[in-house]
Amino acid sequence: MSDPWSAAQRTLDHYRSNAQAFREGTREHDVSQNIDALLRHIRAEPPLRILDLGCGPGRDLRAFKARGHVAVGLDGTEAFVDMARAESGCEVWQQDLLQLQLPSASFDGVFANAVLFHVPSRELPRVLAQLHETLRPDGVLFCSNPRGHNEEGWSGDRYGVWYDWPAWRQRVLAAGFTELEHYYRPAGLPRAQQPWLASVWRKA
Ligand SMILES: C[S@@+](CC[C@H](N)C(=O)[O-])C[C@H]1O[C@@H](n2cnc3c(N)ncnc32)[C@H](O)[C@@H]1O
Repeated sequence: MSDPWSAAQRTLDHYRSNAQAFREGTREHDVSQNIDALLRHIRAEPPLRILDLGCGPGRDLRAFKARGHVAVGLDGTEAFVDMARAESGCEVWQQDLLQLQLPSASFDGVFANAVLFHVPSRELPRVLAQLHETLRPDGVLFCSNPRGHNEEGWSGDRYGVWYDWPAWRQRVLAAGFTELEHYYRPAGLPRAQQPWLASVWRKA
C-alpha cells in the first residue's frame, strides 16, 4: 500500500489540476436520489445542519440550501473550496480527510458522495470514527462509493479503494453505525451497469 499521506496529496493534486474540467463534467449530475436517501432518515426538525464531505465545486451544497437546510462544505482542493463558496454561498472548510478537525455532535447528517473511497483503507476506521463523533445523537451518514472487489491502489493519479458491500458494511458497522439501507446506482439498470454503491447509516 502507498504511504497514505502522499497518496492523499497526489490525489488532491489531480483534482487541483483538473478542477475546472471536473466542475463542468459533474455540474449536471443528478444525485437527488442520494440527497433524498440522506434526508428521509433524519428525524430532527428542519432546518437541518448537513456536512457535505468532499463537496467538490458545490453542486450539492446548493441543493441542500435550496431545500432550506444549513449546509457546510469540506474539501481538500483549494480550487473547489473557492468554487463551492461562490456556487452556494455556504460556509466551506478546506481540510484534508486524513487530518479532519470537526466539531463534536454538530451535524444532523453527513453527505459523503463519491469521496470516502479516496481514504486509504488503514486510515478509514479513524475517519469513520470522526464522522460518527461529528454527528448529533441519532444523526445519519450517507456514503456513495464506486464499487469493486476490495481492490486498493491507483486509478491514474487518484488513489482509491473499491469496496464490495460486505466489506464496506463491516467497516461502517465497526465504527459504531447501524445500517439503514443500501442500493446501487444508477437506478433501473442491470447490476453490471451500476458501478456505484450507496449506503445510509445511523449513529448508534
Ligand atoms: C469524486 S470527487 C466528488 C465531489 C462531490 N462530492 C461530487 O459528488 O461531485 C472527490 C472529492 O474528494 C476530494 N478529496 C479527495 N481526497 C481528499 C482528501 N484527502 N482530503 C479532502 N478532500 C479530498 C476532492 O477534492 C473531490 O472534491
